[in-house]
Amino acid sequence: MVKKTIADVDVAGKTVLMRVDFNVPLNDNGAITDDRRIRMALPSIQSVIQRAGRLVLVSHLGRPRGEPDPKFSLRPVAARLDELLDGPVVFASDTVGQEANKKLASLADGGVLVLENLRFDPGEKSGDAHFAEALASMADIYCNDAFGTCHRKDASMVAVPQAMGEKPKVVGFLVAKEIQYLTDVISDPRRPFVAILGGKKVSDKINVINNLLDICDKVLIGGAMAYTFSLAKGGSVGESLVELDKVDLAKDLLAKGGDKLVLPVDTHCGDDFSGGCQKMVVSAGQIPDGYQGLDIGPQTAAAYADLVRAAMTIVWNGPLGVFEIPPFDEGTKAVAKAIAEGKGTSIIGGGDSAAAIEQLGFADRVTHISTGGGASLAMLEGQNFAAVDILDDA
Ligand code: 3PG
Ligand code: MG
Repeated sequence: MVKKTIADVDVAGKTVLMRVDFNVPLNDNGAITDDRRIRMALPSIQSVIQRAGRLVLVSHLGRPRGEPDPKFSLRPVAARLDELLDGPVVFASDTVGQEANKKLASLADGGVLVLENLRFDPGEKSGDAHFAEALASMADIYCNDAFGTCHRKDASMVAVPQAMGEKPKVVGFLVAKEIQYLTDVISDPRRPFVAILGGKKVSDKINVINNLLDICDKVLIGGAMAYTFSLAKGGSVGESLVELDKVDLAKDLLAKGGDKLVLPVDTHCGDDFSGGCQKMVVSAGQIPDGYQGLDIGPQTAAAYADLVRAAMTIVWNGPLGVFEIPPFDEGTKAVAKAIAEGKGTSIIGGGDSAAAIEQLGFADRVTHISTGGGASLAMLEGQNFAAVDILDDA
């Protein structure tokens, strides 16, 4: 999937409308708690500024209901970008209205304008053609660097590039890099290729497990998902989190996966959901009443770490236990450490696994950490994205 990038277009004196994913977490005071998505968009942003393009940045933040809602304003994001760029970033408190157009008209070459949250307009979620036309008409070039949103069909992702007509429509460096790792590397992997999948629900990961069983050498299962598989094998799971309606599906995946699908051999459990609970390690499928599985056990952690260390391509999505509550972070930590120590290409899905690898201090020792949650999962499912397909081929 080779697309033209922002480096392939001459931006000098032109206006570039760049869709970014500045949907960053905010605390109760409205302060940004993790600016990674902003920092990861900087290479594309700087590339336009340095070549004297006029840059208009658009994004959503949170899920406002198609009308202005101050707690989802992009103003703090524009302020953070201003700090990171060490140069003036102009903010417009509307998206396609008077202020946006006035500030766009006075934007100098090399200048940056951030428009207010796209989802303050109902046209963004509905893919409205008039809204898309208003955005497209602001620019000479469209750039999609919003990987985290690439699985969506919102106006700014699909209708806007459509409305650009013959004008250039390209990917930014972040989207190009995410596609390189989450699609290209995976479709032609160095072997052994090992996937580690955790998280709470089998139902979130069915299509990922199916797709990865086709292309991996091993798929290692952890997280609460493992307890639904345990039930499917006739095990006891005590009070563990399970999806009773997905037990048959887990049976199908076990049949399809055979030796490729690897389940925990032991479980670290506790008698309540806290660090201070009574703890014990039991064999998988032998969790007593009153206890719930909260992490893979030490034997499983060691076996998974060995498989990961020997792998040449590794994909990890979803924590293997309740890593926020020690000691139930031990399984996730052992596997994260093995990924960091291994010599393989390591690709970490976004969301919780990205947070875990950062929190555990291994972030700078892996090959790629995705900025996408839902988008990275959709890509691991092998889905095609309309928002990317529509852009110019290289
Ligand atoms: C995300 O954080 O998953 C993306 O920014 C997309 O947001 P959405 O799930 O609200 O569409
Ligand atoms: Mg999401």
